[in-house]
Amino acid sequence: MINSKLPSVWYGGDYNPDQWPEEIWPQDMRLFRKAGINIVTLPVFSWAKLQPSEDVYTFEWLDRILNLAAENGIYACLATSTAAQPAWMSRKYPDVLPVDVDGRKRTHGSRVNFCPNSPTYRLYSVRLAAKLAERYKDHPALLIWHIGNEYGPHCYCSNCAAQFRVWLRAKYGTVEELNRRWNMSFWGHTAYDWDDIVPPSNLSGDNRCFQSMMLDYKRFMSDSILACYQGEYDAVKRITPDVPVTTNIWGLFNGLDLKKWADRMDVVSWDSYPQMNEPMSNVAMRHDYMRGLKDGKPFMLMEQTPSQQNWQPYNSLKRPGVMRLWSYQAVARGADTVMFFQLRRSFGACEKYHGAMIEHVGHENTRVFRECAELGRELKALGDTLLDSRLDHQAAMLFDIDTWNAVEITSGPSVDLDYLKQAQKYYKAFYDQNIGMDVISPLSDLSSYKLIVAPVLYMLKPGVAERIKEFVRQGGVFVTTFFSGIVNENDLVTLGGYPGELRDLLGIWVEEIDSLPPEMKNRIVMQVEGRFGRVQDEYECGLLCDLLHLEGAKALAVYGDDFYAGMPVLTENGFGQGLAYYVAADAEQRFIADLCATLCERAGLRAPLDADPGIELTRRYKDDRRYTFVLNHNRGKAAVRLDGPYTDLLTGLVHEAVLELDAYGVAILEG
Ligand code: GLA
Ligand code: ZN
Repeated sequence: MINSKLPSVWYGGDYNPDQWPEEIWPQDMRLFRKAGINIVTLPVFSWAKLQPSEDVYTFEWLDRILNLAAENGIYACLATSTAAQPAWMSRKYPDVLPVDVDGRKRTHGSRVNFCPNSPTYRLYSVRLAAKLAERYKDHPALLIWHIGNEYGPHCYCSNCAAQFRVWLRAKYGTVEELNRRWNMSFWGHTAYDWDDIVPPSNLSGDNRCFQSMMLDYKRFMSDSILACYQGEYDAVKRITPDVPVTTNIWGLFNGLDLKKWADRMDVVSWDSYPQMNEPMSNVAMRHDYMRGLKDGKPFMLMEQTPSQQNWQPYNSLKRPGVMRLWSYQAVARGADTVMFFQLRRSFGACEKYHGAMIEHVGHENTRVFRECAELGRELKALGDTLLDSRLDHQAAMLFDIDTWNAVEITSGPSVDLDYLKQAQKYYKAFYDQNIGMDVISPLSDLSSYKLIVAPVLYMLKPGVAERIKEFVRQGGVFVTTFFSGIVNENDLVTLGGYPGELRDLLGIWVEEIDSLPPEMKNRIVMQVEGRFGRVQDEYECGLLCDLLHLEGAKALAVYGDDFYAGMPVLTENGFGQGLAYYVAADAEQRFIADLCATLCERAGLRAPLDADPGIELTRRYKDDRRYTFVLNHNRGKAAVRLDGPYTDLLTGLVHEAVLELDAYGVAILEG
């Protein structure tokens, strides 16, 4: 359990009492109790109020609100409040203010607007965290620490430049080695001295010219920001060793090495803000990614909106039932908390149009409040039943932030190549069939899987190719695509033919890579019989098309057009006990769906139950119990066919044969 002091699904979210007169607080408490809220996250952005000047700290107001929460049976996800430094600090110590990628020194304002290598920021943020821990170490409300908030932005100031050189020295030892690892003889960039190395900002032209340097700068920034988090982590852990610590990740993004970050968290937490019209498979993939960061341990849904956002282009309301459905989707995929941003809607500044449990009207007679209270009642009734249960997937996708960054900053072969989109296409093929797939780092343990998909595995870090080969040797099924195995961790091409270290595994050699503009397409023409279509079945492909030769693999499909018509576009290679597939072009979704369905069948992977389209199924296991989540994302009724009697934990009803769910309906079936 994240913290056994509260052995039920944690339900609550961000609360900003310091934006309100204290008279309102008891009213908030009444409404929180009514909604079944058991946790509030605070004070996320209150550094200015907690430390109004350099030597003055004011905790009394925080004492009062924490005491009030405790009296009302509500716990605190206690934030260290260091995401937005006070104005006096920016004024007195300009090293706190960051420099952006265009070389502009930022002025005070907004949030997460600090230089991660600022000695001032490091000193005062850690000091505040320690003071909070000292003061509240024995407070009955303290449940978990929430360090900072949504870390992310990078800095290019002279302090960061100096620290970058220190970081590089530790990594490469000598300037000669650095020149070699970054291939600095290109365009005569040879460095003679560490001081020749400057951060890759737009001041030196296009900051993407030197991709090896750029990649390392991103890694260095992630490490620098992580050091800010780590400083606070260590400070609170020293004083409260038994209280778990986290920071909220702002989604699946490539600004930080999230895997490395997760290793420093006691529990992963993240903020989920899907767009109204986004495919549900993308949302599910993000949950799966967060779960994968800590090898399947339950994670926290730290934020979601009860109704709408303010920062999307179109901030649609969540339709009746959707907030509940998406909350259970998080739980279905491994969350042990359901938390909101935010509990009371602010009345000024940029989030006044962001949804909240308590709307501007101030009372509980609203649709949103009623839906929140209803969900609170249900979660309370579930007690600790689901906590710590695990998913058990036999398929996995390899997904890597470094690879994503490398693909993004590379010059050529296509501006339209989007690593995340490619991953989402393959994920969707599994999601649509309700075949669970973990999303994991290429350096994870692969031995428990039967099928592994690695779209655009462009970068192969040391050891990755060998792990994949071992997986296939042992009988695994592996699929990868065009633009894989091309570079090493420094973005230098592996010479001797693509896909480099994967060549023997795949039994192919790629000679050239064609890049097609959006209006140009090629055809995939099947050459085999079986479930995967008939001979001559056709699909569309484009974007990147590899021109490849077989070196032991078998062509399952060939290109239909252009000067490379007849060349293989889908190959299969036996390797050890297993099979390795290569998809040489960006294929239409129908092809990926058919391919993945065939491979799942081959690997013996099946959906838990048979369901209508638009129904999402997952299973969580605990001890000898099994919970099947049935989520109806359709705007109308839909059904799932059962293979025996199941009890719905939400209604207590026993179902057999067929269960029909209303629009946006949810069932959690035990059996
Ligand atoms: C982020 C932040 C919150 C809030 C929400 C609004 O997730 O962490 O403070 O600004 O966005 O959607
Ligand atoms: Zn800086």
